Amino acid sequence: MAQSAKRTDTYSLQCGIVASCRLTAQHHLITQRIGGLIYPAISNEIRSRKDLAIADVGCGNGIWAIEAAEEYPLAEVIGIDISDAQFPWTCPENCCFHVLDMMRPVDQDYKGCFDLINVRLLAGSFEGKEFTPIIDNLHQMLKPNGWIQWLDISSPAIRAYDYTEPSIISEWRLPSPITTQIPLFIKSVEWFDKLPALLKQRGFIDIERYECPPKESTLKHEAEITVLVLMELGQSLFDVEPAAAEKFNDAIAEMLEGIQDGRLFTTVLQTTIGKKLHRALRKRKPRANMVLEWLKKEREGGSRSNI
Ligand SMILES: C[S@@+](CC[C@H](N)C(=O)[O-])C[C@H]1O[C@@H](n2cnc3c(N)ncnc32)[C@H](O)[C@@H]1O
Repeated sequence: MAQSAKRTDTYSLQCGIVASCRLTAQHHLITQRIGGLIYPAISNEIRSRKDLAIADVGCGNGIWAIEAAEEYPLAEVIGIDISDAQFPWTCPENCCFHVLDMMRPVDQDYKGCFDLINVRLLAGSFEGKEFTPIIDNLHQMLKPNGWIQWLDISSPAIRAYDYTEPSIISEWRLPSPITTQIPLFIKSVEWFDKLPALLKQRGFIDIERYECPPKESTLKHEAEITVLVLMELGQSLFDVEPAAAEKFNDAIAEMLEGIQDGRLFTTVLQTTIGKKLHRALRKRKPRANMVLEWLKKEREGGSRSNI
């Protein structure tokens, strides 16, 4: 059964039934935070495209892919993950799931296929690794004018709020063991902050970064999910460094007590979007430059002949 599948990759969270339920709850909270599955800058542009194809890379239990397939019944939606441990057994007809390691060069079959690639909470899986391969793969998998939408944890990873304060957004210090341990676990934050520059380097255009602030009405639910993620991290840490895991779990217990006292925290999320430049546009640039060069030469030549 998929739930007990052993994983051989470096994913540091769990993949059993509880972890899958946590992903589902987290999906609904994130979708509420950003107001839908796809940012309007993208959905307004792709909605009317023919042969619309969408991929969800690092799809986990596939909940985003399933909802996208329902929202876009004429689109083909593919959920992609390095492991099938959480793939669903039921999904809409226009949705399917493939196993693929995004750190390895992608097959020709996936190149130039997608109008949109959604990536969510994947950066943590690549800690300490070279990120060029995944950005190259995403770029190659997109059609010209195809979009990437990448939501992930951004600095400072976790933000705390004190519900007893008049302004809920006032910062509250996290229990110190968590504060010191978090950067050890969520190193990807630094990398994700550089994503807009990396996309620009790779030739993406129309790059935007959006804040995804939590909704005040669901802050407690967000805090509970944050604690569950930390518990999963603590569980994985237990196999590697039991002493550190014990400290980590004490800090989580402190956070749980904090919630009882009206203290809340959420993960800091941001989304980066960008569009793959259409090849024809890329060609037009040098041509424009050539015309400018020619005009410049003409002008220089002209002024010389006037002397
Ligand atoms: C934190 S989960 C996020 C799942 C989903 N995107 C969501 O938001 O609910 C990260 C997922 O990325 C997958 N993953 C990790 N490394 C990967 C790789 N090299 N290629 C493809 N998927 C990968 C993991 O297996 C896991 O399912």
